[in-house]
Amino acid sequence: MRRLTVPAIREAKGKTPIVMLTAYTVRMAQILDPHCDILLVGDSLGQVIYGLPSTVPVSLDMMCAHGAAVVRGSYHSLVVVDMPFGSYEESPEQAFRSAARILKETGCAAVKLEGGQAIAPTIRFLSERGIPVMGHVGLTPQAVNALGGYGARGRSQAEQAKLLDDAKAVSDAGAFSVVVEGVIEPIAIEMTRTIEIPTIGIGASAQCDGQVLVIDDMLGMFERVPRFVKKFAALSDDIDAAVKTYADDVRSRAFPTPDQTYHPKKAAPSA
Ligand code: KIV
Ligand code: NA
Repeated sequence: MRRLTVPAIREAKGKTPIVMLTAYTVRMAQILDPHCDILLVGDSLGQVIYGLPSTVPVSLDMMCAHGAAVVRGSYHSLVVVDMPFGSYEESPEQAFRSAARILKETGCAAVKLEGGQAIAPTIRFLSERGIPVMGHVGLTPQAVNALGGYGARGRSQAEQAKLLDDAKAVSDAGAFSVVVEGVIEPIAIEMTRTIEIPTIGIGASAQCDGQVLVIDDMLGMFERVPRFVKKFAALSDDIDAAVKTYADDVRSRAFPTPDQTYHPKKAAPSA
């Protein structure tokens, strides 16, 4: 099976919902790949993999290392890698250097960056030079220090107008799709209806052109997750039970058994 392409994702709008999940490691990429259209190497790996307090400290080195692992673990899904905070905001040229490094070192086909009107010229600069860009509007976690938290966006009329302008600016600048995160549903629907590119919702609306979740959240690896997360499994509980049994078996010497140990060759029967 050939890997899905950027044009194929763009053309899915209005036809089939786009399935996207985050992935950070090779084995997880292998498991998710057959079911997804897009694997996102999100900078959420800052919290999920590294225990950082936000995505702000995530480095280009981290994104390249995990991006390469996810590309190696997949052959069907389009792989998109997040540009980390500080790697693209300064200028279109800085963004191009960072994005080119991500494409060269990981083998991914596209990058994602956060922001609306202010970052649109950068999206245009990259798109026109062969680097497909996925936008990300609404709740943009890299701006947590400016936003003051992770609350839903679009509750005031001024905010609603800005959100719609942002989505339109990202689309007009040549992004091939856009993540819409933490936006009140009517605005997510309005964005989806009015812009030309697919919207991929997270805490947005079932009417978006696709959906994305953080894999560890939807697998139930955390107790506390945002309300927009549906837990499709309870892996923390499964792992806890498995490790408890292992610890009990080690302490009681029930593990390893002869099945899990090596034995000398049996002597050949004498003639
Ligand atoms: O980093 C991330 O996981 C993301 C998705 C939640 C869209 O940007
Ligand atoms: Na992200």
